[in-house]
Amino acid sequence: MAPERLSGRALEPGTLRRSLGAFATGVTLVTVGGRTPHGMTANSFTSVSLDPPLVLVCVDRGALMHASLESHAHFGLSVLSSRQEPVARHFADRRRPLGAAQFDTVDWFPGRATGVPLIRDALVTLECAVWRGYAGGDHTIYVGRLLTLTDGPEAEALLFHAGRFRQLSHTDSSGVAT
Ligand SMILES: Cc1cc2nc3c(=O)[nH]c(=O)nc-3n(C[C@H](O)[C@H](O)[C@H](O)COP(=O)(O)O)c2cc1C
Repeated sequence: MAPERLSGRALEPGTLRRSLGAFATGVTLVTVGGRTPHGMTANSFTSVSLDPPLVLVCVDRGALMHASLESHAHFGLSVLSSRQEPVARHFADRRRPLGAAQFDTVDWFPGRATGVPLIRDALVTLECAVWRGYAGGDHTIYVGRLLTLTDGPEAEALLFHAGRFRQLSHTDSSGVAT
């Protein structure tokens, strides 16, 4: 790539967000439990390693979730289904109530190993021990070691692409919508 493509407007946060949003993802809810439970919508989730079983999520250093993860040994991850867009919107809204009250409007259950809140009917729920945190600019990359993994109902994933929540649309191999 020509050097001029890597400078100026191309690297402004808004431009970066728009361009990198071309990468479609699923949507997860990251949670911590204890006396001040907290949840945050995140699409930076990635599986990292099978042995040991590791996953990661990148958290903005300015998010309340960042302070929560700095003071908790465990976190939960719920991979949201296409029917759970309201859950994703709720936990991405900085005006939501704090502490336990933010979970009043969602159907959740405590993880069996750590008690972290997990979202009922999510596609899969994970409980993790915080394994490492790596500095990543204005985010921290939290790597978690899986403690439990529970499959939920077979359902479609909620997607995020180009700044919007999306649903899967089905096409067969010829590209015809089914
Ligand atoms: C689809 C979607 C994905 C998001 N992914 C992340 C993410 O991976 N990391 C992050 O720090 N914030 C992410 N956010 C933003 C946070 O959810 C949002 O800023 C939230 O209000 C932060 O909560 P807190 O400051 O109360 O912890 C995402 C928002 C949306 C809508």
